[in-house]
Amino acid sequence: MEGLCHHYRFLILTLVVLSGLRQSYSSTTTRQFEFNIEWKKVTRLCHTKPLLTVNGEYPGPTIAVHEGENVEVKVTNRVAMNTTIHWHGIRQLRSAWADGPAYITQCPIRGGQSYTYNFTVIDQRGTLLWHAHYGWQRASLYGAFIIYPRMPYPFSVPIQSEVPIIFGEWWNGDVDAVENEMMLYGGGPNSSDAYTINGLPGPLYPCSKKDTFIQTVERGKTYLFRIINAALNDELFFAIANHTLTVVEADAVYTKPFTTRAIMVAPGQTTNVLVTANQVPDSSGMFLMAAKPYVTAVFPFDNSTTAGFLKYKSTRTEKIEAPALPTNLAFHNLPEMKDTVYATTFSKMLRSLASPNYPCNVPKKIDKRVITTVSLNLQDCPANKTCKGAYGKRFFASMNNQSFVRPFKSVLESHYKNLTNVEFSSDFPEKPPTAFNYTGVDPLTGNMNTEFGTKLLVVPYGTNMEIVLQGTSFLNTENHPIHVHGHNFFVVGSGFGNFDVAKDPAKYNLVDPPERNTVPVPSGGWAAIRLKADNPGVWFIHCHLEEHTSWGLAMVFIVKNGIGQSQSLLPPPKDLPLC
Ligand code: C2O
Repeated sequence: MEGLCHHYRFLILTLVVLSGLRQSYSSTTTRQFEFNIEWKKVTRLCHTKPLLTVNGEYPGPTIAVHEGENVEVKVTNRVAMNTTIHWHGIRQLRSAWADGPAYITQCPIRGGQSYTYNFTVIDQRGTLLWHAHYGWQRASLYGAFIIYPRMPYPFSVPIQSEVPIIFGEWWNGDVDAVENEMMLYGGGPNSSDAYTINGLPGPLYPCSKKDTFIQTVERGKTYLFRIINAALNDELFFAIANHTLTVVEADAVYTKPFTTRAIMVAPGQTTNVLVTANQVPDSSGMFLMAAKPYVTAVFPFDNSTTAGFLKYKSTRTEKIEAPALPTNLAFHNLPEMKDTVYATTFSKMLRSLASPNYPCNVPKKIDKRVITTVSLNLQDCPANKTCKGAYGKRFFASMNNQSFVRPFKSVLESHYKNLTNVEFSSDFPEKPPTAFNYTGVDPLTGNMNTEFGTKLLVVPYGTNMEIVLQGTSFLNTENHPIHVHGHNFFVVGSGFGNFDVAKDPAKYNLVDPPERNTVPVPSGGWAAIRLKADNPGVWFIHCHLEEHTSWGLAMVFIVKNGIGQSQSLLPPPKDLPLC
């Protein structure tokens, strides 16, 4: 565990708040943390560069709290760039002010300023993540967010210890420059130079053997791996040589346990798996664990593998050192990079636990169905401009052909203050503006231009919603991990090709569909999600591939206040940053 032994430099205070509670708990424990955003020189692959960090740590510190606790994180920005932090998957019931996406729920925290994120973790337990939600800062500003349950785990095996496994991406160069260049010329972004496990690329990269994650295990014991994908632009397969993984939770919701040789985890998703050290090791005592991309895009991508080791403890005293590497990684349980069948089959294995203690509250009836394309676009090149996308055009992305334009004010603040703002309008199209064969477009002849705007979808409190996310074949088909802020949703159906409203809903799983915060929409297909819009506020919905968010694959949905205080957004905190 050496690699994970953080020095938590933030303050952990426990105090009992006796009055003024937001929740129904008679008393609530408050956990306080301090996050200082600061530069730190970090070396990987023999490249040293200043990295944006929280408290000088890479990856950032783990936040660990218990279900029901109040959390206060004071974020102090000690760099000359704007920033915000998002608590990915935390529901933020009535506390949208603490959600974090820049210009959606808050103005950025400027250099020299601080903002305290204040929220309560209600009825959630498991593994989530936190990350910066400003530009591409998530490249290094991320960490685990762990919620310990009040009741014992629903799996009966005793757990020897818990192991966070956070995937990220490392760029030798400046990530900001990659984003700027991409936005300036509309080309695909440069890909990362390495994937990382807990910030360590591992021995398959040049000059990287010493930066390898090694987890010591005892033979016969079972470990809970808390797997988090914090990578910017890549969905990943993960496997451990000779060991099976038993999936027990996804996105901080328990699942029916199932055993698999590998998992697919998209950016923003988390998966808890049980691993039993039940193999007979050779003299090295080592088993490889590795992650590599699941690829559906035509863009250049980081075609590499991050690796670490399970190290069986032996009675002999010996140095922990990575052994010589096998040249063939294929037998290490990892699917091939383009294995859409594996990715799809894996997604379909996930089921809610749906037990008396952990019921599956999927809306059986809906008040509103929204069908939206999730698409890349190819925009005609403006006169006298350089365009570096395919066919001399510019890449963009959209939902229902609306490429989301980030406003310069906080949408939540404008909504709360009832400002009539010309920048936004409440007319996000609830179905594709024109119907066509979404997954049958010829990229050479199809019109793939998009429109630009900041259109919002506004629904009354308590609306039972279905959102059908329809992929397209603009450019090529691609898997998009769509994330919804402020709500968990149920993945009631998915398929390849075009969603058919006459046929597909009849096949939905309304018994034990997986409850998630991020769904990978099948490449060249669709996914239908259901949620009860019971959290008043302004919520970002977007593709968790950062390049696609930059191109506009995003929208905002607003849930209006219901009746009385318990169905209404809280007032803004005093220290809310101003634009
Ligand atoms: Cu994890 Cu809007 O993001």
